[in-house]
Amino acid sequence: MIKADGLALGKGVIIAQTKADAQDAVRAMMEQKKFGKSGEQVVIEEFLEGPEVSVLAFTDGNCVKPMISSMDHKRALDGDKGLNTGGMGTIAPNPYYTKEIADRCMKEIFLPTIDAMNKEGRTFKGCLYFGLMITKDGPKVIEYNCRFGDPETQVVLPLLQSDLLTVMQATTNGTLAETDVSFSDKSACCVIMASKGYPLAYEKGFELTIPAAVKDSVYVAGAVQKDGKLLTSGGRVLGATATAATLKDAIDAAYKKVETIHFDNAFYRRDIGQRALAAKEG
Ligand code: GLY
Repeated sequence: MIKADGLALGKGVIIAQTKADAQDAVRAMMEQKKFGKSGEQVVIEEFLEGPEVSVLAFTDGNCVKPMISSMDHKRALDGDKGLNTGGMGTIAPNPYYTKEIADRCMKEIFLPTIDAMNKEGRTFKGCLYFGLMITKDGPKVIEYNCRFGDPETQVVLPLLQSDLLTVMQATTNGTLAETDVSFSDKSACCVIMASKGYPLAYEKGFELTIPAAVKDSVYVAGAVQKDGKLLTSGGRVLGATATAATLKDAIDAAYKKVETIHFDNAFYRRDIGQRALAAKEG
């Protein structure tokens, strides 16, 4: 069946599993004009398979300094089952992003991207998000975003050792090459607590209880303040992040934090980081 999936979700991308699906999709777009004007042009892309890696990178338009790599978990349920979401949790660093892959990405993807934008007269400065897939033929770009990732940022920035403001100023001043951008060699894990039903319909308005001991590493997104209380107002309500010397300890610590947080109808995946742990061990 035709579906939008993985990093393509929500980007207006149709993934056809068979040639017949592809023909139906093109017919729906071009003949039945299902997508209006945006369906007038069709781009057919290669089907790629492999683990996904998110790399956020600082750039001043010349120099690119990638941040530590991360892995998102897009599906709503354990075992990468259920519907796609904005992201149910992350870990960093991503074990599939080896030194060899990182070197290839710099040479084949990051620098050519910056060069191409300069040649088009569209110099980009700031944080560039590379959504990558590590295929059997090497790393391929699935998507770019001109922003930080969510929930990637929740595991990447806690590992940043350099001063974030200084680095951001360097991206606009053009001094990134001389600016230190270093990361801790620890690991991080972020577990998203969502409203039951997300990414479909869900109820809102439940009070959040977040103990003071974990507040500084809990990033609240889908909530509003009302009459002095914090109430759920979104699908992905918050992310609890922990860092530790090993990935396993970071995962355990993130789940310990989650267990101390309460709101009615909360749900979260129980297996964030397990695929990465298996890849490290395998
Ligand atoms: N986590 C995916 C994104 O930020 O687009």
